[in-house]
Amino acid sequence: MTTSSSKYLPKRTLEARYYTDPAAFEIEINGLLARTWQFACHSNEIANVGDYIAFKIADQNLFAIRGRDEVVRCFYNVCQHRAHELVRGKGNSRVVVCPYHQWTYELTGGLRAGPNIKSVPGFNRTAICLTEVRVENFNGFIFANLDIDAAPMDEWYPGVRTEIAEYIPDIEKLAPLEWVECAEACNWKVSVENYSECYHCPKCHPTFAQGVIKPETYDIQPMAEGYVLRHLTECQSLDQMSYPIDLSANEHAGEYRSWFLWPMFSFQCYPGNVLNSYHWRAEDSDNCVVYRGWFTQGGEESETIRNLAVQDRETTVAEDITLVESVQRGLKSKGYVPGPLVLDPDCGVMSEHSVERLQQWMREAIDG
Ligand code: FES
Ligand SMILES: [Fe+2]
Repeated sequence: MTTSSSKYLPKRTLEARYYTDPAAFEIEINGLLARTWQFACHSNEIANVGDYIAFKIADQNLFAIRGRDEVVRCFYNVCQHRAHELVRGKGNSRVVVCPYHQWTYELTGGLRAGPNIKSVPGFNRTAICLTEVRVENFNGFIFANLDIDAAPMDEWYPGVRTEIAEYIPDIEKLAPLEWVECAEACNWKVSVENYSECYHCPKCHPTFAQGVIKPETYDIQPMAEGYVLRHLTECQSLDQMSYPIDLSANEHAGEYRSWFLWPMFSFQCYPGNVLNSYHWRAEDSDNCVVYRGWFTQGGEESETIRNLAVQDRETTVAEDITLVESVQRGLKSKGYVPGPLVLDPDCGVMSEHSVERLQQWMREAIDG
C-alpha cells in the first residue's frame, strides 16, 4: 500500500537566497516595496503649513510637506532642473527652494520661479512640477505609495482603521514623543518574520513575556481579508505590569493588540491604550533599520512612556537584534538547509502559521 506521504510533509521555510541574494532585493525594490503602502511620517510632525520631512522608501528619496490648504503631499525629493535634492531632514519653508540654482516650487509642487528662466524662448513654467506620489492619512499616520494606481489602504487592510481607533481613543491627536532607531544587520524579511511570531518570546523576551503579555495566550492570526496579521493576547495582571494603567478609562484599557500591515509597519496597543509602532526601512539585502515610535497626546512629555521606550529598547528590541543578526549570518552558512515550519493546527503562541503567511507573500513578491 502506498500513502501519499508528501501530503503530510511539513512545509519548509524559505530558502536562504530570498534573504541574502542582492538580485532578490533588487526585485523587491522595484516591485513589492514600490507598490505597497509604506510609512512616511506622522501628520502631527508636520502640523504647520510649510512643514516638511524627508524620508526614503524603496531606495527613493521623498519628502512630505503640508500645503497652504492643510493637505499633506508627498514628492520625490528631486529638482526638475538638474536633479539636485531639494530638502534634507525636517524643517519649514514658505516655498521649496532648490539649493543648487534656486529654482523655487510652490508647496503644491508647481514651479514658481527660477533665476533667468524667462530669458529662455518657449520656457513653459506651468508645465514643470515636482513628481508627486500617492499618500493616505491613516488615523494620523501618513503613508506613501510609489504606485499611482495602488488600491487604497482600506482595501489592503480592511477594517483596521476603525478597529485601531476603538483601541486608541483620540488617535488623531497623538504625536510622536520619541522615535527609537535601531540598525539591524539582517534582511528586512528576517526582522519582519521575527516580529511576527512569538514562538521565541517565552525564552528570548523575559521582560515582555512577564511584564506585558501572557505568552501562553499569545496568538497571531492573518485577518480574514487583506494583508494584516493581528496579534492578540491576554495581559499580565495589573500588579505585574511594568507600568501603571487605569483599567477604568475605557473598554479596551486592559487589552493588548497589534496590527501588522504588510510589508513594513505595525501598530501596537499596549494596556492603558498606549500606542507604539514599528516600521522598517530596507537598506540592502543584508541591512535594515527598525524604528520604534512612541506617542502621546500632542506629543506631550510623559515619564511613563519614556521609561517604556527605554525598557523596550534595552530588553525586547536588544534581544531581537541579537536574534535576527544571528539568523542573517546563519542564512549565509553553507551548512544550512531550510527547516520545517512549526505549524500547529491549533495555532497559538508555539506555532509559526503567521510566518507561513508572510512567506507566502514574500515568495509571491520575488517569484511573481
Ligand atoms: S538643480 Fe535645482 S535649480 Fe538647478
Ligand atoms: Fe522578538
